[in-house]
Amino acid sequence: MISDKEHVITVDGASGTGKGTVSLLLAKRLGWKFLDSGALYRVLALAAQKHQVAFDNEKALEVLAEHLDVQFLAQETSASQIILEGEDVTTTIRTEKMGNAASIVGALPAVRAALLSRQRAFRDTPGLVADGRDMGTVVFPDAELKIFLTATPEERALRRFNQLKQQGISVTLGDLIMELRERDKRDQERAVAPLKPAEDAVCIATDGLTIDQVVERILLEYKGKAGKKAFPATTDLINKQSEAVVAE
Ligand code: C5P
Repeated sequence: MISDKEHVITVDGASGTGKGTVSLLLAKRLGWKFLDSGALYRVLALAAQKHQVAFDNEKALEVLAEHLDVQFLAQETSASQIILEGEDVTTTIRTEKMGNAASIVGALPAVRAALLSRQRAFRDTPGLVADGRDMGTVVFPDAELKIFLTATPEERALRRFNQLKQQGISVTLGDLIMELRERDKRDQERAVAPLKPAEDAVCIATDGLTIDQVVERILLEYKGKAGKKAFPATTDLINKQSEAVVAE
Protein backbone atom coordinates (compact mmCIF):
# COMPACT_ATOMS: atom_id res chain seq x y z
CA MET A 1 0.00 0.00 0.00
CA ILE A 2 1.36 3.39 -0.91
CA SER A 3 1.56 5.94 1.90
CA ASP A 4 1.30 9.68 1.44
CA LYS A 5 4.82 10.53 2.64
CA GLU A 6 7.74 10.82 0.23
CA HIS A 7 7.55 8.05 -2.34
CA VAL A 8 10.44 5.62 -2.74
CA ILE A 9 11.29 3.17 -5.50
CA THR A 10 14.35 1.02 -4.80
CA VAL A 11 16.43 -0.49 -7.59
CA ASP A 12 18.91 -3.12 -6.43
CA GLY A 13 21.14 -5.53 -8.28
CA ALA A 14 24.72 -6.45 -9.07
CA SER A 15 27.03 -4.15 -10.97
CA GLY A 16 26.53 -4.14 -14.73
CA THR A 17 22.80 -4.86 -14.57
CA GLY A 18 22.16 -1.32 -15.78
CA LYS A 19 20.63 -0.22 -12.50
CA GLY A 20 22.55 3.08 -12.29
CA THR A 21 21.41 4.31 -15.69
CA VAL A 22 17.91 2.90 -15.22
CA SER A 23 17.52 4.54 -11.79
CA LEU A 24 18.77 7.91 -12.97
CA LEU A 25 16.42 7.89 -15.97
CA LEU A 26 13.54 6.78 -13.81
CA ALA A 27 14.19 9.61 -11.35
CA LYS A 28 14.34 12.15 -14.18
CA ARG A 29 11.11 10.81 -15.71
CA LEU A 30 9.26 11.05 -12.42
CA GLY A 31 10.89 14.32 -11.37
CA TRP A 32 12.14 12.62 -8.21
CA LYS A 33 15.46 12.73 -6.34
CA PHE A 34 18.11 10.10 -6.99
CA LEU A 35 20.38 8.26 -4.56
CA ASP A 36 23.44 6.49 -5.99
CA SER A 37 24.38 4.64 -2.80
CA GLY A 38 27.31 2.86 -4.50
CA ALA A 39 28.91 6.26 -5.02
CA LEU A 40 28.86 6.81 -1.25
CA TYR A 41 30.79 3.59 -0.67
CA ARG A 42 33.18 4.53 -3.48
CA VAL A 43 33.73 8.00 -2.00
CA LEU A 44 34.41 6.48 1.40
CA ALA A 45 37.01 4.14 -0.14
CA LEU A 46 38.63 7.10 -1.88
CA ALA A 47 38.65 9.14 1.34
CA ALA A 48 40.26 6.20 3.15
CA GLN A 49 42.95 6.00 0.49
CA LYS A 50 43.50 9.76 0.70
CA HIS A 51 43.83 9.73 4.49
CA GLN A 52 45.84 6.50 4.51
CA VAL A 53 43.24 4.54 6.43
CA ALA A 54 43.57 0.80 5.82
CA PHE A 55 40.51 -0.87 4.20
CA ASP A 56 40.26 -3.28 7.15
CA ASN A 57 40.48 -0.64 9.92
CA GLU A 58 36.78 -0.79 10.78
CA LYS A 59 36.86 1.72 13.64
CA ALA A 60 38.74 4.39 11.67
CA LEU A 61 36.53 3.80 8.61
CA GLU A 62 33.43 4.19 10.78
CA VAL A 63 34.68 7.58 12.01
CA LEU A 64 35.59 8.58 8.45
CA ALA A 65 32.10 7.55 7.24
CA GLU A 66 30.43 9.56 10.01
CA HIS A 67 32.39 12.70 9.11
CA LEU A 68 32.59 12.26 5.36
CA ASP A 69 32.60 15.72 3.77
CA VAL A 70 30.79 14.85 0.54
CA GLN A 71 28.29 16.68 -1.62
CA PHE A 72 26.11 15.31 -4.40
CA LEU A 73 25.26 18.16 -6.76
CA ALA A 74 22.26 17.17 -8.88
CA GLN A 75 22.63 17.86 -12.62
CA GLU A 76 19.86 18.49 -15.11
CA THR A 77 20.53 15.54 -17.44
CA SER A 78 23.47 13.56 -16.09
CA ALA A 79 24.38 11.88 -12.81
CA SER A 80 25.28 14.09 -9.83
CA GLN A 81 28.59 15.84 -9.61
CA ILE A 82 30.37 14.46 -6.54
CA ILE A 83 32.56 16.66 -4.38
CA LEU A 84 34.78 15.15 -1.69
CA GLU A 85 36.43 17.65 0.65
CA GLY A 86 36.07 20.37 -1.98
CA GLU A 87 37.50 18.26 -4.81
CA ASP A 88 35.51 16.99 -7.80
CA VAL A 89 35.79 13.17 -7.66
CA THR A 90 32.93 12.38 -10.06
CA THR A 91 35.12 10.37 -12.44
CA THR A 92 37.91 9.37 -10.02
CA ILE A 93 35.54 7.10 -8.05
CA ARG A 94 34.35 5.22 -11.17
CA THR A 95 37.39 3.03 -11.71
CA GLU A 96 37.17 -0.73 -11.13
CA LYS A 97 39.82 -0.32 -8.43
CA MET A 98 37.51 2.02 -6.48
CA GLY A 99 34.52 -0.29 -7.10
CA ASN A 100 36.47 -3.13 -5.61
CA ALA A 101 37.67 -1.01 -2.69
CA ALA A 102 34.06 0.10 -2.09
CA SER A 103 33.02 -3.52 -1.86
CA ILE A 104 35.79 -4.21 0.71
CA VAL A 105 34.87 -1.30 3.01
CA GLY A 106 31.15 -1.98 2.40
CA ALA A 107 31.52 -5.44 3.92
CA LEU A 108 32.24 -3.90 7.34
CA PRO A 109 29.10 -3.69 9.55
CA ALA A 110 30.16 -0.46 11.35
CA VAL A 111 30.69 1.26 8.00
CA ARG A 112 27.24 0.24 6.74
CA ALA A 113 25.63 1.45 9.97
CA ALA A 114 27.48 4.78 9.76
CA LEU A 115 26.23 5.39 6.22
CA LEU A 116 22.61 4.45 6.93
CA SER A 117 21.24 7.81 8.09
CA ARG A 118 23.15 9.62 5.36
CA GLN A 119 21.38 7.47 2.76
CA ARG A 120 17.97 7.87 4.39
CA ALA A 121 18.44 11.66 4.36
CA PHE A 122 18.09 11.55 0.55
CA ARG A 123 14.40 10.78 0.98
CA ASP A 124 12.59 13.92 -0.10
CA THR A 125 9.39 15.13 -1.73
CA PRO A 126 7.95 14.25 -4.11
CA GLY A 127 9.95 11.02 -4.17
CA LEU A 128 13.25 9.18 -4.36
CA VAL A 129 14.69 6.51 -6.64
CA ALA A 130 17.37 4.70 -4.62
CA ASP A 131 19.97 2.62 -6.43
CA GLY A 132 22.17 0.06 -4.65
CA ARG A 133 22.47 -3.41 -3.20
CA ASP A 134 20.41 -3.21 0.00
CA MET A 135 18.01 -0.36 -0.74
CA GLY A 136 14.92 -2.57 -0.59
CA THR A 137 16.12 -4.91 2.15
CA VAL A 138 17.74 -2.53 4.67
CA VAL A 139 17.79 1.17 3.83
CA PHE A 140 14.18 1.69 2.64
CA PRO A 141 12.30 -1.46 3.70
CA ASP A 142 9.01 0.51 3.43
CA ALA A 143 9.55 1.50 -0.24
CA GLU A 144 6.39 1.33 -2.34
CA LEU A 145 8.11 -0.52 -5.13
CA LYS A 146 11.25 -2.65 -4.93
CA ILE A 147 12.98 -3.69 -8.11
CA PHE A 148 15.80 -6.23 -8.38
CA LEU A 149 17.65 -6.28 -11.69
CA THR A 150 19.60 -9.28 -12.93
CA ALA A 151 21.69 -10.08 -16.03
CA THR A 152 24.13 -12.85 -16.96
CA PRO A 153 27.80 -12.21 -15.97
CA GLU A 154 28.84 -12.08 -19.66
CA GLU A 155 26.25 -9.44 -20.51
CA ARG A 156 27.12 -7.42 -17.41
CA ALA A 157 30.85 -7.52 -18.13
CA LEU A 158 30.24 -6.44 -21.73
CA ARG A 159 28.01 -3.53 -20.67
CA ARG A 160 30.56 -2.41 -18.09
CA PHE A 161 33.34 -2.74 -20.69
CA ASN A 162 31.48 -0.44 -23.11
CA GLN A 163 30.61 2.00 -20.34
CA LEU A 164 34.23 2.28 -19.16
CA LYS A 165 35.47 2.54 -22.75
CA GLN A 166 33.12 5.49 -23.28
CA GLN A 167 34.60 7.12 -20.19
CA GLY A 168 38.09 6.59 -21.61
CA ILE A 169 38.97 4.02 -18.94
CA SER A 170 40.92 1.12 -20.42
CA VAL A 171 40.29 -2.44 -19.17
CA THR A 172 40.24 -5.95 -20.67
CA LEU A 173 37.03 -7.97 -20.81
CA GLY A 174 38.73 -10.94 -19.11
CA ASP A 175 39.86 -8.80 -16.17
CA LEU A 176 36.38 -7.32 -15.90
CA ILE A 177 34.67 -10.73 -15.72
CA MET A 178 37.14 -11.82 -13.03
CA GLU A 179 36.63 -8.65 -10.98
CA LEU A 180 32.84 -8.84 -11.35
CA ARG A 181 32.83 -12.41 -10.03
CA GLU A 182 35.06 -11.47 -7.10
CA ARG A 183 32.89 -8.45 -6.24
CA ASP A 184 29.63 -10.45 -6.60
CA LYS A 185 30.94 -13.13 -4.27
CA ARG A 186 31.93 -10.57 -1.63
CA ASP A 187 28.65 -8.64 -1.96
CA GLN A 188 26.52 -11.80 -1.77
CA GLU A 189 28.38 -13.50 1.05
CA ARG A 190 28.92 -10.61 3.46
CA ALA A 191 27.27 -11.03 6.86
CA VAL A 192 25.49 -7.66 6.86
CA ALA A 193 23.08 -6.51 4.14
CA PRO A 194 24.19 -9.01 1.48
CA LEU A 195 23.15 -8.47 -2.13
CA LYS A 196 19.81 -10.25 -2.48
CA PRO A 197 16.27 -9.35 -3.58
CA ALA A 198 13.84 -8.20 -0.90
CA GLU A 199 11.04 -10.74 -0.38
CA ASP A 200 8.57 -8.35 -1.97
CA ALA A 201 10.86 -7.27 -4.82
CA VAL A 202 9.92 -7.49 -8.48
CA CYS A 203 12.83 -9.22 -10.27
CA ILE A 204 13.54 -8.17 -13.85
CA ALA A 205 16.01 -10.10 -16.03
CA THR A 206 17.51 -7.40 -18.24
CA ASP A 207 19.38 -9.52 -20.83
CA GLY A 208 18.27 -8.41 -24.27
CA LEU A 209 16.30 -5.44 -22.91
CA THR A 210 17.24 -1.83 -23.61
CA ILE A 211 17.54 0.66 -20.77
CA ASP A 212 14.32 2.36 -21.95
CA GLN A 213 12.45 -0.95 -21.94
CA VAL A 214 13.51 -1.60 -18.34
CA VAL A 215 12.46 1.94 -17.31
CA GLU A 216 9.05 1.44 -18.99
CA ARG A 217 8.58 -1.86 -17.22
CA ILE A 218 9.29 -0.25 -13.83
CA LEU A 219 6.96 2.67 -14.57
CA LEU A 220 4.21 0.19 -15.40
CA GLU A 221 4.86 -1.72 -12.18
CA TYR A 222 4.61 1.54 -10.25
CA LYS A 223 1.48 2.56 -12.07
CA GLY A 224 -0.02 -0.78 -11.09
CA LYS A 225 0.75 -0.06 -7.44
CA ALA A 226 -0.14 3.63 -7.30
CA GLY A 227 -3.89 4.04 -7.21
CA LYS A 228 -4.99 6.81 -9.55
CA LYS A 229 -6.93 8.38 -6.70
CA ALA A 230 -3.99 8.29 -4.35
CA PHE A 231 -1.50 9.92 -6.68
CA PRO A 232 -3.17 11.69 -9.55
CA ALA A 233 -0.10 13.80 -10.37
CA THR A 234 2.34 10.91 -10.53
CA THR A 235 0.04 8.46 -12.27
CA ASP A 236 -1.07 11.04 -14.81
CA LEU A 237 2.57 11.69 -15.58
CA ILE A 238 3.25 7.97 -16.02
CA ASN A 239 0.10 7.56 -18.15
CA LYS A 240 1.20 10.33 -20.47
CA GLN A 241 4.68 8.86 -20.77
CA SER A 242 3.38 5.34 -21.44
CA GLU A 243 1.01 6.68 -24.12
CA ALA A 244 3.88 8.57 -25.72
CA VAL A 245 6.00 5.40 -25.81
CA VAL A 246 3.18 3.34 -27.34
CA ALA A 247 2.66 6.05 -29.94
CA GLU A 248 6.37 6.12 -30.91
O1 C5P B 1 27.00 0.31 -7.45
P1 C5P B 1 28.48 0.42 -7.44
O2 C5P B 1 29.18 -0.52 -8.39
O3 C5P B 1 28.96 1.83 -7.60
O4 C5P B 1 28.92 -0.02 -5.97
C1 C5P B 1 30.26 -0.24 -5.62
C2 C5P B 1 30.32 -1.22 -4.46
O5 C5P B 1 29.78 -0.61 -3.30
C3 C5P B 1 29.50 -2.50 -4.66
O6 C5P B 1 30.24 -3.55 -5.28
C4 C5P B 1 29.12 -2.89 -3.25
O7 C5P B 1 30.10 -3.70 -2.67
C5 C5P B 1 29.11 -1.58 -2.50
N1 C5P B 1 27.73 -1.17 -2.25
C6 C5P B 1 27.11 -1.68 -1.15
N2 C5P B 1 25.84 -1.30 -0.86
C7 C5P B 1 25.19 -0.43 -1.63
C8 C5P B 1 25.80 0.09 -2.80
C9 C5P B 1 27.09 -0.31 -3.08
O8 C5P B 1 27.68 -2.47 -0.42
N3 C5P B 1 23.96 -0.05 -1.30
